[in-house]
Amino acid sequence: MGYIQLPGLADVHVHLREPGALQKEDFTTGTKAAIAGGYTQILDMPNNNPPTINRKNLEDKKRLAKDRIYCDLGFNFGATADSIVFFNKVSAKTFGLKVYMSKTTGPLLVNDNEERDLIFKSWENPSPIMVHALDETLQEAINLAKKYKRRIHVCHITTNQISMLKRAKNQGLEISSEVCPHHLFLNTNDIKTLGPFGMMKPPLMSKKDQEELWNHLDVIDMISTDHAPHTISEKEDKTSPKYGVPGLETTVPLMLSAVSKKLITLKRLTEMLSTSPKKIFGLPEQKNTHIVIDTSKKYKIGSKKLFTKCNWTPFKELMGQGNIHQVFLRGEKIFEGGKFLTKPKGIVMGR
Ligand code: NCD
Ligand code: ZN
Ligand code: ZN
Ligand code: ZN
Repeated sequence: MGYIQLPGLADVHVHLREPGALQKEDFTTGTKAAIAGGYTQILDMPNNNPPTINRKNLEDKKRLAKDRIYCDLGFNFGATADSIVFFNKVSAKTFGLKVYMSKTTGPLLVNDNEERDLIFKSWENPSPIMVHALDETLQEAINLAKKYKRRIHVCHITTNQISMLKRAKNQGLEISSEVCPHHLFLNTNDIKTLGPFGMMKPPLMSKKDQEELWNHLDVIDMISTDHAPHTISEKEDKTSPKYGVPGLETTVPLMLSAVSKKLITLKRLTEMLSTSPKKIFGLPEQKNTHIVIDTSKKYKIGSKKLFTKCNWTPFKELMGQGNIHQVFLRGEKIFEGGKFLTKPKGIVMGR
């Protein structure tokens, strides 16, 4: 393949941890990791402390990010009983509404059925409702989406949810989904060596489930990293285990190795990493923006320097292929050969 040029990649599911957990990541280190991984547009999740559940906290994030981000950055809004009053006000300022319907990191779990119903009823905006709904809980999200004719996006889909997804699609529901690299490249056998560094929500699945996921890539719209950094000492702390793994810098080499093995075509990969997320989440067009990948390099993932503040990866033992050689943002070369060439040139997306 040699050098290949692709459009800038987009990831709709990233946790940049600012404000509230700067020991894990911040807007600058997280967007550097994005660019180093080939992403020029990312969406940040709302489960911070304080969470993105009102106008003020959203505006605070935008203000904090200004002039400090290397890629373009947009925000997803958090759904709680109290955040409903802001739904219409934040519509044009955000790209998705995140609803945590199963146990998760942070304070945003919505357990109450009436609250869930009211949330789906009240999000009258065109952007998708992104559901964190593990296992069977997904069916409840699908039922609510049907009831109120809402678009939903299934976060970090697992094998046992594929049939629910297909059924809902066949019934005409506007439903999209994402799969995470850790579920594609790791399985429960890896937990032996990874220990806490292999723990995330939803958890790693069996090798058989992992293979099933690859067999169903045709019904899944996009790959999202669910980049969820925690520090090494937080991960090793046995008293309060932290779920989540970083992923922005490792997706391209992992997926290109899959292209080499003919598990996916480069055309389909480009759809899943760029075209589909941009279209489904209505991300603004980025003129003269592309990345150049040197596909000749094959290397152990763990041998590469990382920009994420947490500075570890669950994929370190795996072989990857391809280095992000250059990144051009709005006509300007901002990254080459592992180095940033300009000050932060990313913009905050949304009004
Ligand atoms: C995420 C986090 O750490 O913020 N963790 C995870 O295991 N995926 C939260 C989430 O996406 O559920
Ligand atoms: Zn989640
Ligand atoms: Zn099937
Ligand atoms: Zn997440």
